[in-house]
Amino acid sequence: MTEPTILAIESSCDETSAAVIKGGKVLSNIIATQAVHEQYGGVVPELASRAHQQNIIPVVTQALRTANVAKTELNAVAFTRGPGLLGALLVGCSFAKSFALGLDIPLIEVNHMQAHILAHFIEDPKPGFPFLCLTVSGGHTQIVLVKSHLEMEIIGQTTDDAVGEAFDKTAKMLGLPYPGGPLLDKTAKQGNPDAFEFPVGNMPAYNYSFSGIKTSVLYFLKDRTKHNPNFVQENLADICASVQKTLIKTLLKKLVLAAKDLGITEVAIAGGVSANSGLRETLQEYAKKYKWNVYIPAFQYCTDNAAMIAIAAHYQYLKGDFATQYVSPEPRLKF
Ligand code: KG4
Ligand code: ZN
Repeated sequence: MTEPTILAIESSCDETSAAVIKGGKVLSNIIATQAVHEQYGGVVPELASRAHQQNIIPVVTQALRTANVAKTELNAVAFTRGPGLLGALLVGCSFAKSFALGLDIPLIEVNHMQAHILAHFIEDPKPGFPFLCLTVSGGHTQIVLVKSHLEMEIIGQTTDDAVGEAFDKTAKMLGLPYPGGPLLDKTAKQGNPDAFEFPVGNMPAYNYSFSGIKTSVLYFLKDRTKHNPNFVQENLADICASVQKTLIKTLLKKLVLAAKDLGITEVAIAGGVSANSGLRETLQEYAKKYKWNVYIPAFQYCTDNAAMIAIAAHYQYLKGDFATQYVSPEPRLKF
């Protein structure tokens, strides 16, 4: 079958999402964001699992209704196997297993990070193979060599924190509420990116380190607030813009190196941090400078969503890559 109709579930972190895809075309993509974490300044795993449990049936029902697809028309059910929070993944996995069993249709397990990359195949223009994808999220920072839809190789990655974590933690230090990354981005727009200097981590090959910048921002703030307790309030936009510029510079330096070494000019970004306006703009500038064709996902496909799980499942279905009934979530799933 080349036109499979698939229901896909995403529940790896704090978004409960369901999508329906038919013949590679996304018909619905419903996302329930969990507001419960705001008061804690970050995702609380146990609360995430509970919220998934509450949201999953309404979200799936709405996804099928929006797509105007009956359960009996489905050819497979897909879910995120990992990486992610164990309790959160268990909800999506158990639901998908039961649904597939009830309908007597195959089950497809999807790698969340591969799905972020395959989000580029939901809409045009689509990257040509091979391409490089800078995959940047709350838990990962990777440079991936994408050889085909399902053949990918991580050629560089962070050795400590993910860049999304660096965004979120510096935002927290600056007193910005959760979720910090998008707010830091918004605040940075009013600031001068050259106001302050922060060190750019330099790891071997195509690897990254983001724990250093976090510490340097911490010491910088300690030092400046000693002399002026209002320093952060008075310079918030400039600090945000300077931190953001440093993080973007660090990310793109290794991407340039990898693209040069491998002679690749098809370059994409994916994952939650690819929603960052500074990263999106700078990548466009690099496209001109290095004669790259760049691929930047639509905002709705940057952060966690089930449409990306659905497109990955579509290609896996065509390949006959189905999961067994014994499959269980894998919080640290690799490629
Ligand atoms: O891919 P994602 O939704 O979830 C994970 O798989 O981790 O990524 C979430 C991360 C968070 O760290 C969030 O702060 C960051 O993406 N993020 C941003 C922006 N939007 C989301 N970081 C910087 N600027 C943004 N506009
Ligand atoms: Zn993600």
